[in-house]
Amino acid sequence: MVCSRDIERAAELIRAGGLVAFPTETVYGLGANALDRAAVRRIFQVKGRPVTSPLIVHVDSPEMARRLAREWPPEAERLAQRFWPGPLTLVLPKAACIPAEVTAGLDTVGLRMPAHPVALELIRTAGVPIAAPSANRFTELSPTTAEHVRRALGDSVDMILDGGPTQVGLESTVLWLAGPPRLLRPGMILRRQIEEVIGPVEVAGRIEDGLPHPSPGLHPRHYSPRTPLVLVTDGVLPPGRGAYLWIGRPAAAARSVRMPSDAVAYAARLYDTLHTLDAEGWDWIAVERPPELPEWIPVLDRLRRAAGR
Ligand code: TXA
Ligand code: MG
Repeated sequence: MVCSRDIERAAELIRAGGLVAFPTETVYGLGANALDRAAVRRIFQVKGRPVTSPLIVHVDSPEMARRLAREWPPEAERLAQRFWPGPLTLVLPKAACIPAEVTAGLDTVGLRMPAHPVALELIRTAGVPIAAPSANRFTELSPTTAEHVRRALGDSVDMILDGGPTQVGLESTVLWLAGPPRLLRPGMILRRQIEEVIGPVEVAGRIEDGLPHPSPGLHPRHYSPRTPLVLVTDGVLPPGRGAYLWIGRPAAAARSVRMPSDAVAYAARLYDTLHTLDAEGWDWIAVERPPELPEWIPVLDRLRRAAGR
């Protein structure tokens, strides 16, 4: 539980250049004042994140977002009206007030108004936009509970606001709007939902390691547990002792976990399940491949990355 005293202390820390981990509806974020270069640099140090990876700036309203974007096209306005607060990040030409550290030197900035009362109250109380990546170490699994954050980052953050488990469970959809609309990272706001509001949206291709990338969420190795993860079909498991995440039918595994057959419920459970199994020391985690349907695309995307392919 988070009380208003905690929020006030957290907001003080943000204003003073500190780092606060906070809940959003997707995953926990590691936040700093987006207008404070030194504070933003600390985020990269703590995460072990390459400085070439831009951060999402979290806002408390579309008004705050408009002040941080040099251009605010009608598509941005319509999408913000429809999906904010919510798990959609809009990439727009950045305003001059945003330091280069936040955007990895890019001329664009990712903006998002999260649908979580603690996140919104924190931004409002601090009175500044909050730059925040997921509160995990680079390439590891995103945290969906305060305990995950504690285990990954421990004392290197100034405060962790514990808002309980997150609802959505997967990172936000990232949409490029600095030119023709392009999906940079799939999320639980689906391409077709966006297209209903603004018309056709392209999908960014996968970027191979080593090439310059418009979005590190496109890097193949990302979102991984330490335990090798394999995607399987019809319960055909690798040799050795492992954990099997099944939908449909169980199979003989040392550890068997039934996952929801609904994509939204599955996404909400996925990272917490992987965090738990990762700590149990199996030879492998085998995940039954979900169906190739539109609503499963964000889950399939994260599973493929976790499998390192
Ligand atoms: O749900 C979320 O998005 C969570 C919560 C905390 O809001 N945040 C999150 O942040 O997942 P992070 O840093 O782990 O992922 C940010 C994604 C990356 O794929 C990054 O490349 C993309 O957003 N991004 C941010 N700014 C961008 C920009 N200017 N151009 C292109 N991609 C950008
Ligand atoms: Mg991340």
